Amino acid sequence: MKKTLALILAACMSLSLAACGGGNSSAPAASSKPATSQPAASQPAAGGDTKTVGIAMPTQSLERWNRDGAYLDEQFKAAGYNTIVTYSDNKNEQQVNDIQNMLSQGVDLLVIAAIDGNGLNTVMNDAGAAGVPVIAYDRLIMNDNSTYYVSFDNYTVGKLQGEYVRDALDLDNAAGPFNMEFTAGDPADNNAPFFFNGAMDVMKPYIDSGKVVVPSGQTAFDAVATDQWQTDVALDRAQNVLASFYADGTKLDAWLCSNDSTSMGVTQAVTQDYAGGNAVVITGQDGDVANLRNIKDGKQSMTVYKAVANEAVVTLDLAKAILEGKTADASLISASGWDFDCAYDTESYETTPGHKCPSFLLVPDVVTADNMEEKLVTPGYYVVGADGYLEATNG
Ligand code: GAL
Repeated sequence: MKKTLALILAACMSLSLAACGGGNSSAPAASSKPATSQPAASQPAAGGDTKTVGIAMPTQSLERWNRDGAYLDEQFKAAGYNTIVTYSDNKNEQQVNDIQNMLSQGVDLLVIAAIDGNGLNTVMNDAGAAGVPVIAYDRLIMNDNSTYYVSFDNYTVGKLQGEYVRDALDLDNAAGPFNMEFTAGDPADNNAPFFFNGAMDVMKPYIDSGKVVVPSGQTAFDAVATDQWQTDVALDRAQNVLASFYADGTKLDAWLCSNDSTSMGVTQAVTQDYAGGNAVVITGQDGDVANLRNIKDGKQSMTVYKAVANEAVVTLDLAKAILEGKTADASLISASGWDFDCAYDTESYETTPGHKCPSFLLVPDVVTADNMEEKLVTPGYYVVGADGYLEATNG
């Protein structure tokens, strides 16, 4: 109880700082843990006409979604909305039920980070029939009732990972050949192929020329995908690959992982089971606290950081515009006063063939041991803990 109160107070403090800084500019970090248990309905706010926003997050088992849920909840509440927040344990059926419950409670708008982008058709059609707008949050929902999509430029996330490996191995100048492997994300997540393709488009010319070799031969998305982005699944596959293709002393130079939870499994496998003495270049995404420790310790090379606090700011301003019947297009960006970059894109994301979903796309950034404090601590997303490692703010 005391902790909950402390978290709420800390959240209020960070929100009032945001207000001092000019309203909807990029938000300081919130707690990495939601202040409420699951499912969490907010206290009804004063006034009879308060609108309610349903916020459906995939799971609390992956660190970033806790941050997203907390930021969204705080920001919508601070703007005077009621909220209902759910985490669905990475189970599609549960998320369908959670969203169904929100609709029965009469939500005015839904913000959904889908577990399975193809698994929500029934509730999405129900939302459409009820006239409830849906913001597909971070992951696109493959249904034409997705009113808008708010995310980061997912292809660029993968491209940044590929470019990092290219530069770390100096592929344009070094003789090579270099050996590397790939680990991608969840096939049910529409983002996962974008990340993989962005990375593969950078690496493919080097693979084609023979400068880069993939000893496992596993270069197709399906072969390297990781169900539900699970660390254990990534660990198992990495152990198998190492045992089958590297046990004879073959050198491993790099392992391109699409995000931090998979990177965690690969890093563990490499640490335990790779016999070579060289440092292996390993990529990630999200800036999870445990991965930031590995980066500082030299076990992981980089993470692509996405400022989810800003993703929540865009979502809130977009939701407000929708609920107030205002225009929500590129003009939202020019009128916003956001102090971060965001693009309005009506071409890149299709929910069904030919049906484009208007999208607001933020810009991802590369974080390494060298720039960690500048990129993550200075803007207030993390603090340096007593042991010198980064911790989530208010965490
Ligand atoms: C993706 C998301 C990533 C990562 C991953 C695992 O959809 O964009 O940031 O968190 O899911 O949950």
